[in-house]
Amino acid sequence: MNKNFYITTPIYYPSAKPHMGHAYSSIVADFFARFKRIQGFNVYFLTGTDEHGQKIQRAAEKKGMDPLSFCDEISKTFRDLSKTLNLSNNDFIRTTEKRHAESVQNLWNILEKKKEIYLSKYSGWYSVSDEAFYSDDEVEDKKGSKIAKSSGSPVEWVEEESYFFKLSQWQDKLLKFYSENPNFILPSARKNEVISFVKSGLKDLSVSRKSFSWGIKVPSNNDHVIYVWLDALTNYISALNYPNENDKLYKNFWPATIHLIGKDILRFHAVYWPAFLLAAGISVPKRVYGHGWILAGDEKMSKSKGNILDPIEIIDIYGLDSLRYYLAKEVSFGNDGNISQEKLESCINSDLANNYGNYCQRVVSFNEKNCNLLIPKKDSFTKEDLILLDRFKVDFNKLINHIDNQDLNSYMNFIVESLFAANKYFNDQAPWNKKSDIPRLNTIVYVSLEIIRKISIMLYPIIPSSSLKALKIFSIKEKDINFDSIKNHNQLIVNNKINKIDILFKKIDNKND
Ligand code: MSP
Repeated sequence: MNKNFYITTPIYYPSAKPHMGHAYSSIVADFFARFKRIQGFNVYFLTGTDEHGQKIQRAAEKKGMDPLSFCDEISKTFRDLSKTLNLSNNDFIRTTEKRHAESVQNLWNILEKKKEIYLSKYSGWYSVSDEAFYSDDEVEDKKGSKIAKSSGSPVEWVEEESYFFKLSQWQDKLLKFYSENPNFILPSARKNEVISFVKSGLKDLSVSRKSFSWGIKVPSNNDHVIYVWLDALTNYISALNYPNENDKLYKNFWPATIHLIGKDILRFHAVYWPAFLLAAGISVPKRVYGHGWILAGDEKMSKSKGNILDPIEIIDIYGLDSLRYYLAKEVSFGNDGNISQEKLESCINSDLANNYGNYCQRVVSFNEKNCNLLIPKKDSFTKEDLILLDRFKVDFNKLINHIDNQDLNSYMNFIVESLFAANKYFNDQAPWNKKSDIPRLNTIVYVSLEIIRKISIMLYPIIPSSSLKALKIFSIKEKDINFDSIKNHNQLIVNNKINKIDILFKKIDNKND
């Protein structure tokens, strides 16, 4: 079994500071990366910034800055955000790095050599905001100006000499590829959109621009810069040291296990990217997953709409793990979702403070009073004990399947149900009434501690720092977390010391403070 796992986020435009939508893509990618690591996989997790093109050039001009200094400044805010979000990424790539430019030019040369690229003239619509070409029927009038129907972004008319990639020749091969790889595009509703787009007919794609200079030069013709999407998509292999195919990173991790992206950029990842790769004779990633948007009200959050939720502000008020938990649990993964202060507060109070945090505290303080902060010796398990403990054994493979199918919500539901079951168990078994039956009291405490261990391991990918705080009870360190161990009931060593821990999540009393 291949134990390598390569996951990527989109690389973000450093045209303005990051918002919640960016944070969302990165946080969910981090869940999967962390999960596969504790499952024993060799994980490579990549994120970064997409720094070329007209959008960035114009944003820099607006600030009176040269594009590179502008990118240096804003790319840093994305890099800082990845720390604030506690991402476990292995690399952060910038498309302005030399390693990337070399890789892109190499790919270009191969495509040119294989006669997949030819010089002609582009006349049509272009959206700088989307960095995308649109045909007449993809554009509509709105209040006297032209916008792209799909994104609502303004488009402008462009006429210039341009290199074209022979995308039209890949239509049938792409359709064959989708049917042979039914899980390449997920969720499946998105797959159908892509397939009908490809079936409706692919035109050759303009892959260079001549009217501005902020980009990677076409090696054989320095008047042109390479189309920013061809440049950007290549980050997924340039970060693995492509074209050095003997490089360990490239050998281990390409093709990628999953490109996690927002649904807005599916066409680039599920149509253009595999076509470029197939044309160059490079293997194609195994999966592209297009998640939904985080909405502010009913609208996609974006700088131009002025409705940006600042992840840093939310984290300052509620803490990172609360936000991470909320996004995993309350957003139906694959669909759009939104964040409201009210929903966030109730999620923190009910799930994190009450069901999880308080449960950990209750069990540890009961242990302190009755078992001297030691793992008690268990007697034989009763039916009630086994019902609770066995959930993790019986559903073990299902849980892994949920993650491998990016069914984050089923994974979360299992945790939430287990927490309810654990709290109910502790209340029903009422160890405080068992002082005359110490073996039973000890067994209840043992089972409750086992459940804290199992649930905290399951929560590690979602709320890593809180899970690690809870696992301190058992002196379990990050490097020792092993998902497999949730199947077993006898991982706690009798008479080992347990540690008291600080409160994991505080209840929020004052609304809108
Ligand atoms: N630079 C390109 C991606 C190149 S990948 C080779 C780009 N950048 S972006 O900064 O505009 O957006 C990147 C991603 O951020 C989106 O695909 C999506 O994953 C995420 N989001 C941006 N706004 C979002 C929301 N409002 N909600 C959820 N995610 C969204 O496109």
